[in-house]
Amino acid sequence: MLITFEGIDGAGKSTQVKKLKKHLTENNHEVLVLREPGGTLVAEKIRDILLENKHDITPIGELLLFSASRAELVQQTILPALDNRAVVILDRFYDSTTAYQGYGRGLDLDILQSINTIASCGLVPDITFYLDISPEDALIRKFSEKSIPLAFEENELDRMESSGLDFYQRVREGYMKLVEHNDRFVLLNACDDPLALHHRILNHIVPLFSADRTQ
Ligand code: TMP
Repeated sequence: MLITFEGIDGAGKSTQVKKLKKHLTENNHEVLVLREPGGTLVAEKIRDILLENKHDITPIGELLLFSASRAELVQQTILPALDNRAVVILDRFYDSTTAYQGYGRGLDLDILQSINTIASCGLVPDITFYLDISPEDALIRKFSEKSIPLAFEENELDRMESSGLDFYQRVREGYMKLVEHNDRFVLLNACDDPLALHHRILNHIVPLFSADRTQ
């Protein structure tokens, strides 16, 4: 089973990923948690290139680097784990590319969809949790996490995080379009209590496992 988490930076995905992993492990599931970009030796190197602030990367270059990282992770790690019936929890997948490079950077959505399909070998998540938060609230969270005062130096943020509030607003709108058009998405308010969110996530996951057992 492939479970993905999506949302703008600072939405609290990693907290929910950790809670879900703990729950599933305690219930005797083999669980593999991965994040994008990254997860293999080469993909981690690509992550460094993508996030380091000193690099000036074109939108197309950015798209292809995220996709190259994904192709490595899918073929080397995700597909073998799914073949062994592990539950794979993925912190970001190609929906991030659609939201960030498509809606955020303005790249052509049809071309992007083809590249997403190639990079992911046609894999589609069983369920996708989208944690919705305004870019302003996300930024406040991010800063309190990193203990940075709000009058910040731009270079305290990584290359993607330095893209500005307008960019993040477009990314958020992109995510909302994805939620509207794809049944596999579950829309969650990222500002709700983390434990309440965890229980809501479990409510969606449990029926999937029951359905899986009957197959
Ligand atoms: P994160 O691992 O801290 O979430 O950082 C990854 C950053 O890369 C985040 O700003 C979202 C961005 N991103 C894209 O722009 N496109 C993608 O396809 C993926 C996977 C991430």
